[in-house]
Amino acid sequence: MTTPRLTVKQLFDRESCTYTYLLIDPQTGEGAIIDPVLELFERDLQIINELGVELLYAIETHAHADHITSSGKLREQVGARLVYGRDSGIEAIDIPLADGETITLGHYQVRALFTPGHTNGCTCYFVDGMLFSGDTLLIRGCGRTDFQNGDAGQLYDSITHKLFVLSDDTIVYPAHDYNGRTSSTIGEEKRWNPRLGGGRPRQEFVDLMNNLNLDMPKRINEAVPANMSVGINFDANRYLLRDFSMDDLHGVWQDLPKSTLVMDNRTPDEFARGHVPGARNIPMGTENGHVDELRQFERVYLYCRSGRRAQTTMTNLSFQGLNHVVCVSHSGMPDWEKAGYPVET
Ligand SMILES: [Fe+2]
Repeated sequence: MTTPRLTVKQLFDRESCTYTYLLIDPQTGEGAIIDPVLELFERDLQIINELGVELLYAIETHAHADHITSSGKLREQVGARLVYGRDSGIEAIDIPLADGETITLGHYQVRALFTPGHTNGCTCYFVDGMLFSGDTLLIRGCGRTDFQNGDAGQLYDSITHKLFVLSDDTIVYPAHDYNGRTSSTIGEEKRWNPRLGGGRPRQEFVDLMNNLNLDMPKRINEAVPANMSVGINFDANRYLLRDFSMDDLHGVWQDLPKSTLVMDNRTPDEFARGHVPGARNIPMGTENGHVDELRQFERVYLYCRSGRRAQTTMTNLSFQGLNHVVCVSHSGMPDWEKAGYPVET
């Protein structure tokens, strides 16, 4: 008797344009869900129950920056085990998979392909002629590489050495699409992907990726720290102060406990021209060298000029396991000066 094809239900989140996939072995009823979204937990649970799926795994391609995962909740409520790439840095993984390792889903083997680049912990999953490519390879695109320890050169190598070597008819199911497309194939992407298809050289790809100048995802300050702890036990007040402003910073700065640090991550020149009194200058890009030191503080307040660099840095730090950083996300030093607060030079 031949094994029937693995059943795939492709589910969509309109808010973040995320695809969630429910995989089911039609013979055993065992299933796995890939990249589930917290707000759509009830929808997904209903389908799982209606189809009588025994959900063995909640699998993540990476720590997402644009939505919070429901993996933790699925583990709590239906006993699914959490599967991540081993190098994702996520807390509380049940099954960390290294490159090439597999998990058994009914008659099928789901194989992990470690594909760093969009983040340093991205993993794609291959099963039954299908590739669940996360944000590593999108339809006619690829994930950005400008935060979460992304690296364009690494992404190029991951896609060309790990994914483009799969057979051309491999079906590609990405974690997102913003244009209504639902799947692709390796052959199509090798030929038509405008970023690195058609044999585009590595350096051209790196230059292209490093000059995209994209806005930060709307929910990054909330989603990344939450997803590092698999979306559960997430204390919003502790990790997330939405729209924390320079005025709010001024409020806490006036009576700052010793255990708290104000961190300015602009360039040394900008810092020298005027900063919040008492602030430490740790320019963006150097924060990884200060992780142990930052860990000593109970809380770190982070600002820059517009909020953009501070958000990027906060995300990087949360990837190093720091979840006590509060970031001024949509303002910065000019607003402090405009308000007439004291400035140190
Ligand atoms: Fe992503």
